[in-house]
Amino acid sequence: MTPRAAGLASRVVRWQRQHGRHDLPWQQGRDPYSVWLSEIMLQQTQVSTVKAYYARFLERFPDLQSLAAAKEDEVLALWSGLGYYSRARRLHQCARVIAEHHGGVFPGTAAELMTLPGIGRSTAAAIASFCFQERVAILDGNVKRVLTRVLGFAEDLAQPRHEQLLWREAEALLPRDPAQMPAYSQGLMDLGASVCSARQPMCAQCPVQDICVAYLEGDPGRYPVKTRRLARKQVALWLLHASDTQGRIGLVQRPATGIWARLHSLPAFESQEALLAACPQAGAPAARQHAPIRHALTHRELELHVVSVRLRRGMAVPQDGTWFEGAAWRALALPAPVRKFLEAPR
Ligand code: ADE
Repeated sequence: MTPRAAGLASRVVRWQRQHGRHDLPWQQGRDPYSVWLSEIMLQQTQVSTVKAYYARFLERFPDLQSLAAAKEDEVLALWSGLGYYSRARRLHQCARVIAEHHGGVFPGTAAELMTLPGIGRSTAAAIASFCFQERVAILDGNVKRVLTRVLGFAEDLAQPRHEQLLWREAEALLPRDPAQMPAYSQGLMDLGASVCSARQPMCAQCPVQDICVAYLEGDPGRYPVKTRRLARKQVALWLLHASDTQGRIGLVQRPATGIWARLHSLPAFESQEALLAACPQAGAPAARQHAPIRHALTHRELELHVVSVRLRRGMAVPQDGTWFEGAAWRALALPAPVRKFLEAPR
């Protein structure tokens, strides 16, 4: 962080209190259910469109329990017109996971929220900063624009390591006082959505003009830098990490075609439901769902959801798999993210 940028938080908080949005329906309380719902709706849809959907949705599903108990068809019907239906499906799955595995109560930290269906790092941080005043950084598209400009961050965000770097910068810029987190997160979003627009930033009205590197350089439009990436299809996979009481791990050999052809892997499923159908023990409280792992292949972007479960001795590995001792599985050909997961200390 440049020393100048250290003044960002106080400026953003002051500006948000005077000029930011305060009257949005989901800002009226700090109840995680309604904040979560709004954040999911706002992921790819503008505030003006979201308002009506949000009100209708909350009227029909006023709390997590009612949403968890709903049929998916009804949830999708209420979503109809907002687009990106996978959001609605994950929203519904998420409500069920919280109802079944978290006693119906939203987890209170961004790290835990990130393990839930449909909640990525920035959304988890938005919920945790608004509802629990947690000092965690948000970094959605608008906020990336604001921060890269203020910092003069010229690295190419198409590269994941540069994006990681920007996350770290964003963390270093957080206000010290947790009580300022809601205003700070909302202020960054509001700045990005209004003053610091992509094409015609209104620098004369900007509260951080005096510390903004891009303004000083005279060319804010230069940021953020992002070269075109191959458009990769997003694919979610659910991986079952079953171990037995002797510490062996259940692996299957993949088919000869498709991703990870012929490699050994944790049993993979296209949905959480399919995983649970094959291994109901993975739905028990003792099972553990890990934060999603992102892994880019040439044409696909994988989002891997690993569920760890301990199975009793003698139980079969789903998908006709085999139990392997540590010495044996390490010698197999494993997909890189699977090996990395299995080798991570835990
Ligand atoms: N986009 C995502 N989250 C938002 C929020 N809380 N307010 C306005 N726009 C947003």
